[in-house]
Amino acid sequence: MFEIDVLTIFPELFGPFLETAFVGHARRGGAAAIRTHDLRDWATDRHRSVDDQPYGGGPGMVMTPEPLVPAIEALAGPKGPSRSAHVICLTPQGRRLDQARLEALAGAGGPLLLVCGRYEGIDQRVLDVAVDEELSIGDYVLSGGELPAMVLIEGLARLLPGVLGNPASIETESFRGGDLLEGPQYTRPPIYRGLEVPEVLRSGDHAAIDEWRHHQAIARTRERRPDLLDPDADS
Ligand code: ADE
Repeated sequence: MFEIDVLTIFPELFGPFLETAFVGHARRGGAAAIRTHDLRDWATDRHRSVDDQPYGGGPGMVMTPEPLVPAIEALAGPKGPSRSAHVICLTPQGRRLDQARLEALAGAGGPLLLVCGRYEGIDQRVLDVAVDEELSIGDYVLSGGELPAMVLIEGLARLLPGVLGNPASIETESFRGGDLLEGPQYTRPPIYRGLEVPEVLRSGDHAAIDEWRHHQAIARTRERRPDLLDPDADS
């Protein structure tokens, strides 16, 4: 059972997400246990505050060490080799999440504590004393780590054994098996608005189909994501 705890000031954002599709299936089937926790439950003042103005000035608010550090330590233990969960903070300053990191995390088996940053940032000392890893889901800025945490959860859930209906479909998809984008896919009808399904896919010749698909994948990758074919090149 892969265990994930999520620390957020918006636990209600996760409701339907945790009940639906792969993630709901993984939870109901016992492959994953995912719980959300409201950071404000650890706040000690009357206003249940979690943020304050930044030293040095600037726009927005910064999440304060209290109550964040005590909340993380309550859920994962103090930072160190014997803590009970690997603590990941979702932030645009993190290392970029990719399929290889998802596979490594899924393979490690958890447990994880996902910390969702909000506002303009998190006091650096929280990251220093209580967080093990910072991850970004891409080079764009959202207003919080909640959607990035859901991205991470869904990416992990579909890698857990017994969750995906058809495990073979994982093998051919983009970012597996040589890091090519997937080529075009077709289903019925054979002609739609005058556009025909390529003849080879209806031929029943599996060797020819494999070759065609591989060629399409390379052509599409070369056009859309040349950086995947030559990772050393400047993109
Ligand atoms: N929080 C805000 N933007 C983010 C991003 N791109 N990745 C992870 N966490 C974030």
